[in-house]
Amino acid sequence: MIKVPTLFGWMVLIRGEALLTEWRTAPGTLLSGQDAKADVLQMMYTMDPRVVHDGLHLRLARHQLAKATPDLVHLLNEEVVAALKDYIATLPTDSDGWSEFAPHNTVSKIVARASNRMLIGLLLCCNADFIQLSTNYMFEVLRTSTLLRMLPLGARRLVNWFSPMMDPYVAQASKYIVPVIRERREKMAFLNDQYVKPFDLLMWLVDEAEAQGRHTDERILVIYILMFNFIAIHTTSITMSNLISDIAERQECQAILREEARMVTGEFGWGKDALDKLVKLDSFVKESMRLRPIASIMLERFVKQDYTFSNGTTLPEGTLWTLPTRTASTLTQTSLNPGAFAISTKKQAGLPLRLPQA
Ligand code: HEM
Repeated sequence: MIKVPTLFGWMVLIRGEALLTEWRTAPGTLLSGQDAKADVLQMMYTMDPRVVHDGLHLRLARHQLAKATPDLVHLLNEEVVAALKDYIATLPTDSDGWSEFAPHNTVSKIVARASNRMLIGLLLCCNADFIQLSTNYMFEVLRTSTLLRMLPLGARRLVNWFSPMMDPYVAQASKYIVPVIRERREKMAFLNDQYVKPFDLLMWLVDEAEAQGRHTDERILVIYILMFNFIAIHTTSITMSNLISDIAERQECQAILREEARMVTGEFGWGKDALDKLVKLDSFVKESMRLRPIASIMLERFVKQDYTFSNGTTLPEGTLWTLPTRTASTLTQTSLNPGAFAISTKKQAGLPLRLPQA
């Protein structure tokens, strides 16, 4: 276990398989991921006090999004193909037929487009200004939260009251999102059961808010859409860019993966069933994510009550506890050579990483 001073206080990193197992199996009453995220991102001020402990985004991700996955695969495939045509097929080629592009930039645009197709629908996912806005949101939140965390607690409220730094951003996003919400609400009111609801997260958000009789105001719905953009775009873009580098570096795997994709999609098309059968690709992605995690520390948790580990170390209530990702993922794998990249040709029986309750 290492105690690291940061600009904002002490942070404890856990290392070693025994401690990691204790961390993984700790009850939700002991650790809080939501409190840690709320503090790190200063969600009270950068988003809205009402979204801090509500967990609506978690319920939507775990239920509606999970249930809709088979249908979403077709829709996402359609959007990714269209985006690839727009961003890659139009690139100039040299005399040998090669094109040059910056992978992360291009992948981010493709991912942002596909994510927003699922979040808010066809109309806005192709709007370049909206896509830029939704991609930048994460950086705005991180910048603002870092500034706020440098201030004493009392001063944050004051600064935010006098100059709510994220408000112009939310206002800009509202210009795009609010008309869509209004149009849908009008149609729902006018057509009742006859209204064929769009198949996207905004619609589930509106429905859930109405059903609960809470969070019906447009600002909160806008913030939830931005929050999903924050969660979905950069995680996926970094993972995809790393994956492209790993595939490019491992020529020996390219033919194997291409052959599997050809066989499976040839027989099953591009659907959820086919994705489930891409065993080698799945294994390759997992290895890429294991050896190149999206961040060097992740999964922050606040300790909710004093906790003493089996090695006798006590973490006092309020400690920010986090995981050095690369060390953890090369320690706890079942593979014989955890530092090496190894793909499996069978469905992996490795232990799923069971996280403590968020
Ligand atoms: C390869 C892409 C992705 C990676 C690597 C990734 C990784 C993660 C990680 C590490 C967490 C934090 C878990 C924790 O602290 O317990 C997380 C949380 C979450 N992710 Fe993802 N994610 C990805 C894509 C997505 C997408 C596309 C969505 C949905 C559209 C999504 C929805 C969520 C939600 C709702 C949470 C919970 C956030 C919270 O606790 O407030 N993720 N993800």
